[in-house]
Amino acid sequence: MNQSIRIEPVVETQHIELPEDLGFGRIFSDRMFSQKYTPERGWHEPTIGAYRPITLDPATTVYHNGQMIFDGTKAYRRPDGNINLFRTERNVERFNLSAARMGMPVLDEAAHLAAIERLVELEHRWVPDRPGTALYIRPVMISTEKTLEVRASREYLHYIILTPVAPYFAAGFAPVSVYVSDDFVRSVRGGTGEAKTPGNYAGSIAATEIALQKGYQQVLWLDGVERKYIDEVGAMNIAFVLNDEQIVTPTLTGAILQGVTRQSLLTLAPDLGYRVVERRVSIDEVINGLADGSVSEVFGMGTGAVIAPVGRMHFAGRDVMVGDGQPGPVASRLYDELTGLQYGRRPDPYGWTSTIETTTALNSAI
Ligand SMILES: Cc1ncc(COP(=O)(O)O)c(C=O)c1O
Repeated sequence: MNQSIRIEPVVETQHIELPEDLGFGRIFSDRMFSQKYTPERGWHEPTIGAYRPITLDPATTVYHNGQMIFDGTKAYRRPDGNINLFRTERNVERFNLSAARMGMPVLDEAAHLAAIERLVELEHRWVPDRPGTALYIRPVMISTEKTLEVRASREYLHYIILTPVAPYFAAGFAPVSVYVSDDFVRSVRGGTGEAKTPGNYAGSIAATEIALQKGYQQVLWLDGVERKYIDEVGAMNIAFVLNDEQIVTPTLTGAILQGVTRQSLLTLAPDLGYRVVERRVSIDEVINGLADGSVSEVFGMGTGAVIAPVGRMHFAGRDVMVGDGQPGPVASRLYDELTGLQYGRRPDPYGWTSTIETTTALNSAI
């Protein structure tokens, strides 16, 4: 797919007026990237054109066997007006991991990254600048062959859309409450938990509805076999602070998404003086630790929320506060450091950010 991207003329929104309450994925920019796959031609016709509906035959395989993947990363408005991408190469790599797991064709990672960069460059006006906001980038691949047979589709569509977003939780860095699901499980080792495929999310909705009805915002998932060890929470990986100095996060088992935020914090936190340990963490250890004070903080990590402190947990009929229910010092420090890098407020010694100059973008927009 190393062909040059065809850029179609697009009628642009004249004055982008974003509402105070942006939400998450309600407003989309003027353009989208798309390309098709067939076995004969491979990936072809890479195009950036107008954001528009996709029309598919009702018998298209994606509607029946759900062979579909996606990913999510963000473009951040820097203080100098330019735009930062953050470790997007990890997202295109994970996209291919998801594709392989779901029996779908992989993409050339450099070309996928270039497509994202070009789209963001053309749509640079859509990167919001209010604190905590960003332009969320959503690459998707769907199977498009018309067949009800349960096998790999022969045809696919890859597309990328952009949406200006607020932090995932409306209250920003305010603590969230989590409900530990002890009847439903999200995934098992060898299943699709490590892939970013809609079935994982569809399967989590009934449990999330129960959590919401009971007054909790997110579901915390236990492992699918013993229902004892903590996997992850909602659309986030999770970490626990032990004795105010050690950060513990569950080991990647194949059932958990390999989060970019998680991976970044595993590098960043030791440089800030924290001890970081990846190991299995049982729900009993956490609930007992919260009761005796040895677990001082719990927080989720993900692109949408960055870091979401957990203020309250519910497990097996018990409601347990995390500390005093307020964001703790470790989560607050990590949030400041990581968002400082992402938004370009502090130097990036890791080479995680790449900058799109808006002056270049202005010149290249058509
Ligand atoms: C199930 C799940 N776990 C974890 C994460 C966090 O991953 P990342 O930090 O790459 O956004 C996400 C979000 O993409 C997710 O959907």
